[in-house]
Amino acid sequence: MSELALPLAATRLTLRAWAPSDRAAYLALHTDPVVGRYIPGLPESDNLAGENFAALCARAPDPSEPIGAWLAIATREADEVVGTGGVLWRDEAHRQAEFGVLLLPGAAGQGYATEAAQALIDAAFSQLGAHRVSAELLAENRSSARLCQRLGLRLEGLHLGTHLEGEQAYDSLTFAMVAAEWRQRR
Ligand SMILES: CC(C)(COP(=O)(O)OP(=O)(O)OC[C@H]1O[C@@H](n2cnc3c(N)ncnc32)[C@H](O)[C@@H]1OP(=O)(O)O)[C@@H](O)C(=O)NCCC(=O)NCCS
Repeated sequence: MSELALPLAATRLTLRAWAPSDRAAYLALHTDPVVGRYIPGLPESDNLAGENFAALCARAPDPSEPIGAWLAIATREADEVVGTGGVLWRDEAHRQAEFGVLLLPGAAGQGYATEAAQALIDAAFSQLGAHRVSAELLAENRSSARLCQRLGLRLEGLHLGTHLEGEQAYDSLTFAMVAAEWRQRR
């Protein structure tokens, strides 16, 4: 059970594979310093984002890939890309999945991330058969921590000095939910 049946549906959104026509939205998301402020590895240069986008379009989204299945989050009404969301196996043998969501700054504050993340969590449990779903975020990423709390994930821990940028060390938080908790919330 490692394949996602796409698209994933949410009330106002659809989560689907990236298409070549989404290039501008993908580049906007991955090169924006505001979006990438708390994400190690972002923002990317235009060139790197372009290369990554071409590679992403060339293959089917697969949670077993090291990078995971990253999907375009688009409005159902206009198919306008507002962000990206991903789910991947952290440890497939132990059914441990992880998800992440990024929104374009203009799309924030409307509940889109909550809807998209819920669709990813639901897919991880119901389609992939995950036992535990987690999110990792830098401790400074307050909007992301609020998102996890809204979704009912538990704060599992604060991890000191997990990311280095030069000499600067950053702490991170892990939020998670196990399958029994997910079933109880349905
Ligand atoms: C993390 C991130 C996706 C959260 O986005 P967000 O806009 O705060 O989350 P939502 O889209 O769910 O919107 C929720 C907010 O909109 C408000 N809202 C307005 N209308 C709403 C609606 N119809 N439904 C739910 N919430 C609504 C909520 O009150 C909430 O505001 P608050 O956080 O001030 O309480 C966003 O900050 C982001 O893209 N950050 C950069 C990327 C990143 O760091 N990602 C996480 C690591 S993978």
